[in-house]
Amino acid sequence: MNTVGVIGAGQMGAGIAQVAAQAGYRVLLSDVSRERAEAGKAGIAKQLARQVDKEKITADARDTALALIEPVDALSAMAPASLVIEAATEREPLKRQIFTEVGAVLASDAVLASNTSSIPITRLAQASPDPARFMGVHFFNPVPVMGLIELIRGLATSDETVARVEAFGRTLGKEIVHANDAPGFIVNRVLMPMLNEACFALGEGVASVRDIDTACRLGLNHPMGPLTLADFIGLDTCLDITRVLFEGTGDPKFRPAPLLVKYVEAGWYGKKVGRGFYDWTGPEPVPTR
Ligand code: 3HC
Repeated sequence: MNTVGVIGAGQMGAGIAQVAAQAGYRVLLSDVSRERAEAGKAGIAKQLARQVDKEKITADARDTALALIEPVDALSAMAPASLVIEAATEREPLKRQIFTEVGAVLASDAVLASNTSSIPITRLAQASPDPARFMGVHFFNPVPVMGLIELIRGLATSDETVARVEAFGRTLGKEIVHANDAPGFIVNRVLMPMLNEACFALGEGVASVRDIDTACRLGLNHPMGPLTLADFIGLDTCLDITRVLFEGTGDPKFRPAPLLVKYVEAGWYGKKVGRGFYDWTGPEPVPTR
């Protein structure tokens, strides 16, 4: 695999493009428009400049990585890629359309992978030209910092596809874990109930936002408290994944916390909109309850 396609130049897609280019792959980066793909590359340039400032990488390494990233106009430009990773918005119809469109231009041995955090891989594979060459490749945010990739095989995914994507993931310097196509895979299956429980605790008046987060940060040695992490991931995303767990298993232990539902109904999605459990508009996040 020399050329990798990344579809979606938002936070996850840009992160994936960055680590792939830093590992020496030529990266074709697409989004809904050329401008959005260019903006994704500009964000990567900033991240790399910060690494140069901290003397983590040389200016030459930054230039080499940036030169490997090519923003493209349309999905048809993905034709030379031997692996395409989709990191578009978490909407199934959109993803299906992307797989149909890009699947039509790829080589007959190319692999298509989705960074979905919760949509079933076996179902998404139905929109690709060959479900044997389709799988889930789940990165974590922030991609350049987080050391893990979850690989998820659909019912029809071939061993060869898994082996090829695993080899690619290792060249990015990430640890690989394998999961079956079950709701939430591994990480979100374990993480979301914790974030949801923190919302229950807050809603039931157990403690304040700050104390719940401080308790988990210092009492569990987590880098961020659960409410900060929920704001960081996006409360809408947390609720979507929690609903997938609840509906996919039918188990009431996964029912979404009413307070989480309310925050999403209010449009308080967290850091990306400036308000969630914290107000993110100032220099430091300030608890809103
Ligand atoms: N992009 C690139 N690098 C970043 C970054 C970003 N967005 N944010 C922070 N970093 C880097 C910093 O540059 C710094 O690098 P250095 O050590 O080389 O100087 C390092 O990360 C530490 O950053 P800070 O000192 O600024 O701050 P923290 O120590 O608080 O670390 C954090 C920030 C790495 C985000 C840490 O708080 C953390 O690990 N939080 C938990 C993140 C997490 O759990 N992510 C998974 C979310 S679940 C998910 O993604 C799945 C999805 O399906 C929902």
